[in-house]
Amino acid sequence: MTDNQKKNQDKLDTASNSMWGGRFQSGPDKIMEAINSSINFDQRLYLQDIEASKSHCMMLVKSKILDTKTGNKIIAGLERILIEIETGVFNFRSSMEDIHLNIESRLHELIGDNAGCLHTARSRNDQVATDFRLWIRDATDRADTYLTDLQAVLLEQADLHYDWIMPGFTHLQAAQPITLGHHLHAYVEMFGRDKGRFSDARKRLNECPLGAAALAGTSFPIDRYETARALGFEKPTANSLDSVSARDFALEFMSASSICAMHLSRLAEEIVLWCSAQFSFACLSDSFTTGSSIMPQKRNPDAAELIRSKTGRINGDLISLLTVLKGLPLAYSKDMQEDKEPTFDSWDSLSLCLNAMTGMIKDLRFNRNTMQVAAGSGFSTATDLADWLVRELKMPFRKAHHITGEIVRLAEKRGCNLADLNLTELKKLENGITKGIFDVLSVSNSVSSRTSYGGTSPENVRVQISLAKERIIK
Ligand code: ARG
Repeated sequence: MTDNQKKNQDKLDTASNSMWGGRFQSGPDKIMEAINSSINFDQRLYLQDIEASKSHCMMLVKSKILDTKTGNKIIAGLERILIEIETGVFNFRSSMEDIHLNIESRLHELIGDNAGCLHTARSRNDQVATDFRLWIRDATDRADTYLTDLQAVLLEQADLHYDWIMPGFTHLQAAQPITLGHHLHAYVEMFGRDKGRFSDARKRLNECPLGAAALAGTSFPIDRYETARALGFEKPTANSLDSVSARDFALEFMSASSICAMHLSRLAEEIVLWCSAQFSFACLSDSFTTGSSIMPQKRNPDAAELIRSKTGRINGDLISLLTVLKGLPLAYSKDMQEDKEPTFDSWDSLSLCLNAMTGMIKDLRFNRNTMQVAAGSGFSTATDLADWLVRELKMPFRKAHHITGEIVRLAEKRGCNLADLNLTELKKLENGITKGIFDVLSVSNSVSSRTSYGGTSPENVRVQISLAKERIIK
């Protein structure tokens, strides 16, 4: 557009809006335009808007509401607009409010009054609901792919370290020895449930609101099954009021995102801990750390910290839309335009976090020795000792727990590990103890004894990892 054309355009735009301005004599105040316009953010729906418009137009032709010639002109115009947008030459105008009116007004510039036929039997209310569902459906599918990528790298690392011993924690205190493969596989399970939540939400989302029109349906003989099918929806939505006012599909998407982000943040926190000098269980390479501008020795796990914190933002996005929708009467209110920014922000943050986490997991290198030594600290095989008393001396577990407590106290007094106590000392506390007890006090015996289903023994872990690989990676 030349400068002159732009000026003329602006003049036209400040007059009443050509898309709906029939009963208006003048255009909106600047501040009205500023608060009303959504084009800055809803231009992200351009692809979905054009797809939905094309399907609507073809249905109108098929249903003989529109003649083929007009239909073809509209389709060709829409396709040209798609190219203009994708090549960056499309002029998005805030005076045209949103993506729907921007595209329609450009269509009018391209094909003249025929463009006006496209809006037969639809409204922006069903249009935006359709576009938004399509956009979220696409993001949901990408979430599934990114989560699978993350599971794959976790399984790769779990496989490599299926029998590496590390401390398992409760209250962030060494509790019982476990294997690193077991720990990493725990996250594979979590992210698997996250995928389940996204795909459950997708099923409910996948109904087509197009054709609900403003709120009451239309008197034109449209075929809603046809547009639903063309856009890959399971079926049309059953109630026109619900069609234009429902946004729970966005809430479900964001809830699934929040839970997933929460899982990511827990893993991120573990990475922060593991990479600290105090833990030294793992380290990240230069690719996934940053330096400090003052302390030359630092290597900071910033990506992990940012994943941890972006969870707050993703939760905020969910709460924001829940609050927007709360108390809204049926059907559409402009409040609902506020649904997009939090949803886009939630997805932008989540997808970034998922990809950064996948990169970090691939990058992590573990320190076998430090983990193994730490696994033996804090009397972590005390439960094995109590179990031995139950098994060998037929003692009730509560009594065994008590005696083990006394043994731990003794070791604490001596400043040594359980395995370093001698048999005579142990016998003073429980005469039935034999030297066989020392077999269960090592961390490696402890982990290999945990053979119950889902337990940490390396053999179990190996089986679970290969089952998960078969299920997830295929
Ligand atoms: N930009 C609007 C939105 O995102 C489109 C729907 C406008 N509908 C209306 N009745 N003003 O919600």
